[in-house]
Amino acid sequence: MAGKAANVSDYRALAKARLPHFLFEYIDGGSYDEVTLNRNVEDLQSVALRQRVLRDVSNIDLSAELFGKKWAMPVGLGPVGLSGLYARRGEVQAAKAAAAADIPQVLSTVSACSLGEVAASGHVPWFQLYFVRDRDFVASLIERAKAEGCGALFLTVDLAVPGSRYRDARAVNGALARLGGYLARPGWLWDVGIRGRPISLGNLEPIVGKSAPLSDFQKWIRANFDASVSWSDVAWVREQWKGPLVIKGILDPDDARAALDAGADGLVVSNHGGRQLDGVSSSARALPRVADAIAGRVPVLADGGVRSGLDVVRMLALGADFVLLGRAWAYALAARGGEGVSHALKLIDAEMRVAMALTGTTSIAEIDEQVLDRNGNQPSF
Ligand code: FNR
Repeated sequence: MAGKAANVSDYRALAKARLPHFLFEYIDGGSYDEVTLNRNVEDLQSVALRQRVLRDVSNIDLSAELFGKKWAMPVGLGPVGLSGLYARRGEVQAAKAAAAADIPQVLSTVSACSLGEVAASGHVPWFQLYFVRDRDFVASLIERAKAEGCGALFLTVDLAVPGSRYRDARAVNGALARLGGYLARPGWLWDVGIRGRPISLGNLEPIVGKSAPLSDFQKWIRANFDASVSWSDVAWVREQWKGPLVIKGILDPDDARAALDAGADGLVVSNHGGRQLDGVSSSARALPRVADAIAGRVPVLADGGVRSGLDVVRMLALGADFVLLGRAWAYALAARGGEGVSHALKLIDAEMRVAMALTGTTSIAEIDEQVLDRNGNQPSF
């Protein structure tokens, strides 16, 4: 695909053409047979909306509040690891796009740019935390998030062990083949490989060193992430972090209730974009049950398969208060840098406005199950 992107799917095609093969596979792929990855997209797309007419939709307000701040729309850039490899200093470019769109960004623990580098752009991100084995180091990451003034901490709990991703396994090859892959993508090589250095895991430099363990990232995760994490560790984090604490990676209503008991201020319904346990429910299917269990006590965020503003409206109708983008913004960053992310966010804004106008809603609070077509082709959620 050449030229202008009209939607996220076009950005995916552009990203594929620009990135070295192994990197595109890392973003695009899921675990095992990618059943859950595909379900996320397909189940969401199959949610039928209820068309309503003649309801004066000339003024549509997309704004939504979350964690003490009013945002331009109920959409954030979710944590996506290694984004600084998709475009030069990618996490900083994404922060600038999020700032321009007046939406939040959640920075991954395994970002290329450090929290300090991203915060220096002026748009202080929320921070996503993984548990590595060294607990003192985890505590130091929490301290860093406090020092940078992060408005929320997202604790990702669905990666106690990494799911097997066949595409990554096939794409990883020797240094020579890797070099060939880089040379086949000169635009990327110049932008990231040469001008985008240093390529490290900025937040983890004290334990990983100055170069990112790219040759087998999954193996590195397996060796360094802590599979012994339990709810008592959430309590440990809760003691140290007094700001909004969000548990990311909830699919089950019982876990949602446990997150509340552990003192969470929010949760993200997520299966890690179909990258962890293949075969689990799509986010779209899990969301209404989790939202029912939470019953409005804390905000429910959701991600997984969101590829358009229409999908955002669908997630809100299924019970989400706020929606995170994953691959949607990563493809745009890989294709066109921060400009691509800004454009993708404009597309999502415009698509949301059309979806709201034609479902007869003019504010985010009005989007609820009433917007779902219960008589039509609705899957049995
Ligand atoms: C992720 N995701 C993720 N989540 C997280 O908490 N920390 C992380 O570092 C990452 N890294 C990451 C890398 C890549 C390449 C992808 C695609 C995803 C999961 C992410 O936050 C989100 O849950 C999913 O991406 C949502 O699914 P979709 O919308 O991408 O299909």
